Amino acid sequence: MAVEVIPTGRALGAEVRGLDLSKPLTSDEFEAVQQAWYDHIVLLFRGQKVSDDDLIRFSRNFGELDIAPASATDMAGGQALSRPEIWIISNVLENGKPIGALGDKEAEWHTDMSYVAEPPMASVLYSLEIPSKGGDTSFANMYKALEELPDDLRAAIEGRIVNHDSSTTSVGELRAGAGVVLDVRSAPGAKHPAIRTHPATGGKALYLGRRLNGYLEGYAVEESEELLDRLWAHCAKPEFSWTHRWRLGDLLIWDNRCAIHRRDRFDGSERRVMHRTQIKGDAPR
Ligand code: SIN
Repeated sequence: MAVEVIPTGRALGAEVRGLDLSKPLTSDEFEAVQQAWYDHIVLLFRGQKVSDDDLIRFSRNFGELDIAPASATDMAGGQALSRPEIWIISNVLENGKPIGALGDKEAEWHTDMSYVAEPPMASVLYSLEIPSKGGDTSFANMYKALEELPDDLRAAIEGRIVNHDSSTTSVGELRAGAGVVLDVRSAPGAKHPAIRTHPATGGKALYLGRRLNGYLEGYAVEESEELLDRLWAHCAKPEFSWTHRWRLGDLLIWDNRCAIHRRDRFDGSERRVMHRTQIKGDAPR
């Protein structure tokens, strides 16, 4: 069966049909997937039945994988310890302990782990258990957000650096060992250009990380806050986004270099279990 790519019709995202990801991809199939990914930023594969090994094999087509941090491995217990490339995103508790990260709360707009010097280029998320409603994941196209940025805002950030805070998670919780940020100018994290160039497509994209405790270097704190508020309001416009409503067996891959994402909250009495991999990236330029 030929690989078929069906765009969402929104600012980003496409469904790919005709592939069974429990089997290795041929080089032609991978080439088609990679081109579709560059064109559409987020790809959806429905109805997949993949093991952790399959998920790792599929992800490795794109590059070397990150290892889940020790805290995630501890939380996730034996399963993740046996496959350290698998990160668990879940609200489920076992023996009173979370088996994964992020719980059932809303995750605000962000790009994955931009608070490190070399953030992951991509994330892959596979649904094993989903709630009856809620927990949808939305994506926004940061090439388009940059293209349509008002001139004064673009001039204000051209050539500037943003500090990406590492103290909190995308659900706004303090990470283990982190202190509350009292001055955004000294927040821990990583500094990256506000506009980055995608190393594979050559496209320019806004690269902001997440709003909480962000700081636009070189401005007074009040000016940075005002500019970041305007930038984030712009990025969150519906015309740049697409929302994915999960079904069991859905597998998504997104490009962290040119997209942000967020997740809706869901009813914590229902279970949501997702397995994720992260593909290593390089320093944004
Ligand atoms: C994430 O924000 O990386 C997780 C998204 C999701 O749980 O849908």
